[in-house]
Amino acid sequence: MLDWTDRYFRYFARLISRRCWLYTEMVTTAALLHGDARRFLRFDPIEHPIALQLGGSEPDALAQAARLGEQAGFDEINLNLGCPSDRVQAGRFGACLMREPGLVAEGIAAMVASVDIPVTVKTRIGVDHNDSYEELSALVDKLSIAGCRTFIIHARKAWLKGLSPKENREIPPLRYEIAHRLKQDFPNLELIVNGGITNLDAAAAQLERVDGVMIGREAYHNPWLLADVDRRFHGDETPPPERRQIIQRLLPFIESELASGVPLQRISRHILGLFQGQPGARRWRRHLSENSHKKNADTTVIVEALRYIRPGGTTTD
Ligand SMILES: Cc1cc2nc3c(=O)[nH]c(=O)nc-3n(C[C@H](O)[C@H](O)[C@H](O)COP(=O)(O)O)c2cc1C
Repeated sequence: MLDWTDRYFRYFARLISRRCWLYTEMVTTAALLHGDARRFLRFDPIEHPIALQLGGSEPDALAQAARLGEQAGFDEINLNLGCPSDRVQAGRFGACLMREPGLVAEGIAAMVASVDIPVTVKTRIGVDHNDSYEELSALVDKLSIAGCRTFIIHARKAWLKGLSPKENREIPPLRYEIAHRLKQDFPNLELIVNGGITNLDAAAAQLERVDGVMIGREAYHNPWLLADVDRRFHGDETPPPERRQIIQRLLPFIESELASGVPLQRISRHILGLFQGQPGARRWRRHLSENSHKKNADTTVIVEALRYIRPGGTTTD
């Protein structure tokens, strides 16, 4: 998620769940091929398994960008066919590509030919009036022939004109049954459903029908949601750490980032939601928000904020 799943959030999320897959923000092929590729491809080894999400449509550029991702150590290359923003449409990538299955298939084939890691797709269920099941299943069929075996389905359509990206994540209704039907029609493909899943019971219910669940906003705002993922879905017996332990484990990482000149706020903004629902959560958030941006702010700000969280739960929020 743009601006959210940067390497700081991903490092933090990985401390909560060792097993869930993490996805980068969408990175355009132009940014990788003509910009500061090192910056976009950087991640910490603890982030594995991690997928690089690409935005682009030109097959050669996609192939080159995928190769850079593989060389950087990513475990999967994912192509974005779901973003509806104007900027993305102007660059001819994201959701508008759902209308160009031939071009996307060429891009998938070019990427598959140039890397050994899986090439996957994240798509909507339709755009504008091109929203029939037949069009979607024809797209999935074509891309699977081109070599894509995993489809992440954001189970709502996108309107390319008239709705903002935010509205396009809220207004078009969720239609999980479309993702379920795809799984029935393409039993050999891996189908992962996305959109509006806010707790692990809902995820478990989806897993009766599909192979995986992707959680976006809720995992960001309430990252502790991820704490039970390993035990519940991966049979991992190790109990998850306490929330405070997550912070203790994060502190050395933050210190090394601060030492290389990263401002505290760039990392601390991602951890505001960790104590959601706990006594003291509001003060934790407020202390971080009010102090992290100050000049020379360091990990003391986080240690101080942690004092608002009482293990016995005696402090009111
Ligand atoms: C701030 C923000 C940025 C996003 N950026 C991306 C992105 O870069 N690539 C992408 O595939 N989806 C992006 N999305 C969409 C989410 O991945 C997800 O498909 C959508 O929010 C629905 O899932 P959810 O209800 O679990 O959040 C973004 C969503 C938000 C809120």
